[in-house]
Amino acid sequence: MTLRSSGDTQLNADVSWAAFDPIAYVDHNYRDLQAEDAEILHIVRDHFGDHFRTPPPGPVSGIDVGAGANLYPALAMLPWCDQITLLERSPANVRYLESQVDSYDANWDQFWRVLCKNDVYGALDMDPRAKFRDVVRVRSGNLFDLVHHEGQWSMGTMFFVAESMTTSHKEFARGVECFLRALAPGAPFAAAFMEHSTGYHAGEHFFPACDVGESEVHESLVPFAREFKTTRLKASAALREGYSGMIVAWGRRNSESDIPTG
Ligand SMILES: C[S@@+](CC[C@H](N)C(=O)[O-])C[C@H]1O[C@@H](n2cnc3c(N)ncnc32)[C@H](O)[C@@H]1O
Repeated sequence: MTLRSSGDTQLNADVSWAAFDPIAYVDHNYRDLQAEDAEILHIVRDHFGDHFRTPPPGPVSGIDVGAGANLYPALAMLPWCDQITLLERSPANVRYLESQVDSYDANWDQFWRVLCKNDVYGALDMDPRAKFRDVVRVRSGNLFDLVHHEGQWSMGTMFFVAESMTTSHKEFARGVECFLRALAPGAPFAAAFMEHSTGYHAGEHFFPACDVGESEVHESLVPFAREFKTTRLKASAALREGYSGMIVAWGRRNSESDIPTG
């Protein structure tokens, strides 16, 4: 699908993703654990923990789409995965992610500690840094190309990406579709969205966003997900500028047979 920019629309391909400053972004968002992220971690760890109460029949591969400069979605998938792909378009963020693979920075420990309140994470029989190093692969790429990898991954996350990469509602919905299509039927997923975002800074550069609320998020998931829920966390502080709250969604990828016909 190729969309054209018109008027004030800023499409994903028009944005200077290379100008994304991962260090400024981490300093602003993830240097210290914020209450909203703790709440999201709580939901996601229990969702994945419940799903894998029945042990997986084979190796598990995870993908975090638009990983940027956030390791906590990957940490949330760590106990089950033999491989985790961190897919990212910005070369600056790819470099940041690569710099974290061998031994991630100390600020991520506080996120791991929240996950460890669920026994599955606490019972991991190896140092999370060692497991992260073993399983994580950083991949430079475009999430819209995931259409060529339908059903490839057995679990997935996409945090603050579909609505934070374009002003176009069509591209937002397409982003959600590409993410979910990359997952195998039944695969558990978690996604997070900024609610009614007007755009954001990552360093000096200003990045576009698409104005979505819980109903748009819900609608974008319906064709591709089953047993899913969404919830709204209201903005606790002026942490991430220009938005009214966060929306978390979690569930499972559906399969063709789940879609009613006629
Ligand atoms: C707001 S940041 C979110 C980063 C991170 N997931 C988080 O939770 O903080 C949006 C991310 O999406 C990435 N991105 C934008 N367009 C993309 C695309 N077409 N394919 C893959 N990643 C993309 C950006 O480079 C950036 O890292």
